[in-house]
Amino acid sequence: MKANIAVLPGDGIGPEVVAEALRVLHAIERRHGHAFTLTSFDFGGAAIDAHGDGLPAATLAGCLAADAVLLGAIGGPKWGPTAKVRPEPALLRLRAELGVYANLRPITVLPALRDASTLKPEVLDGVDMLFVRELTGGIYFGRKARDGDRATDECAYTVGEVERVTRVAGRLARTRRRKITQVDKSNVLETSRLWRAVSERVIREEFPDCSIEHMLVDSAAMHLIRRPADFDVVLTENLFGDILTDEASMLAGSLGVLPSAALGDGRRGLYEPIHGSAPDIAGRGLANPCGTILSTALLLRHSLGLETEAREIETAVAAALGAGARTAEIAATGHAPLSTSKMGDAILDALA
Ligand code: IPM
Ligand code: MG
Repeated sequence: MKANIAVLPGDGIGPEVVAEALRVLHAIERRHGHAFTLTSFDFGGAAIDAHGDGLPAATLAGCLAADAVLLGAIGGPKWGPTAKVRPEPALLRLRAELGVYANLRPITVLPALRDASTLKPEVLDGVDMLFVRELTGGIYFGRKARDGDRATDECAYTVGEVERVTRVAGRLARTRRRKITQVDKSNVLETSRLWRAVSERVIREEFPDCSIEHMLVDSAAMHLIRRPADFDVVLTENLFGDILTDEASMLAGSLGVLPSAALGDGRRGLYEPIHGSAPDIAGRGLANPCGTILSTALLLRHSLGLETEAREIETAVAAALGAGARTAEIAATGHAPLSTSKMGDAILDALA
C-alpha cells in the first residue's frame, strides 16, 4: 500500500520519540512491502522559532494533503503562558482544520506493567477502557475575553457536535463490551444537560444493542480509581476528557506508554502519544517511545486499514516490555533503564 504520512516531531522529547516510531514504521513498511512517504514539517514551538507561527501554512497544507499525521509533542517553558505566541493554539487549530472531533485514548494495563502503577495490582485486573473525548468544541474553542479584572471562557456545544462524537463511541462500543459511560456535570452545566439528552437518544435509537449510563465528572474521577475495570467506553466533552485521561493514564503505570488517535468523518487522523513534551528530560535519551510507537499502530489501523500490521506493533511493544525492557520512568529500582533508542531497538527486535 502507498500512503503519505505527515510527521510533526514538535518540541521537547517529541523528536526523540518520533524518531523511534519512524524506525518501527520503516520496519513494517519493508516487511509488508508498503511504500510510505514520510514528510516532516515544523510545528509547535519549533515552528514559532523558525517562522513566528506554531502552524505555518506549509505544515497545515502538508497535513491536509496527507493520509495521516503523526505528532510527537509540543510546548515548553520557552513558550510559556506569558509568551506572545504560544504553541498550544497551533495544536487546537490543527485539530480543528483536520476536523478530528473524536479523540480515542485507550487505557489498558499491560501485564508487564501491572506493578508499575501506583495503584494496587488487584484494582487493575481487567482494566480495558477507551476514552472518546470530544476534541474540537467546548470551552477550548469558545469565546475568550479579558475585560479589566474579569476573564471569560465560553463553553458551547451543538446537538450536531454531540451526535457525531456519540456515534463514534457507539461504533467503537460495538467492537468491545458495548457499554458506554457518558461523563458530564449536568447538575450544574447546561451544556452537560444537552450532552446527556443527545447521547442518550443517539445510543437508544441507533445503537440499541449498546447500553449507556451517565456519570457526573467528579464521581467519575473517583470511580476511575476505585473500580476502573468497570469502564468500557467513556464518552465525554473536551475539557473533562483532557483531565480524566491524564488521571486514567496512571492506571497504565506510565503516561509514556499510552497512544491516542484523533479522527473525523474521513479516514485521515492525527496520532500522538498522550504525554507532553517533557522539556525537563528532553535530549537526554530518557523518554519512553512506547506511546508514540503505539500511536503508529493506531495510525495503521484507523487511517490505513492495516490491522495485521497494527497488531504486530502492539504485540512487539508488549513483548519487549514483557522481556523486561524499561525506560527510566518505569524501571524497577536496581535495574538499569534503557535509553529511548535502546527501547526502540528492543521493540524492533521483538518485531523481527
Ligand atoms: C492533550 C494536551 C492538549 C490538550 C494541550 C497541549 C493543548 O493536554 O492533548 O491532552 O489540552 O488538549
Ligand atoms: Mg492533556
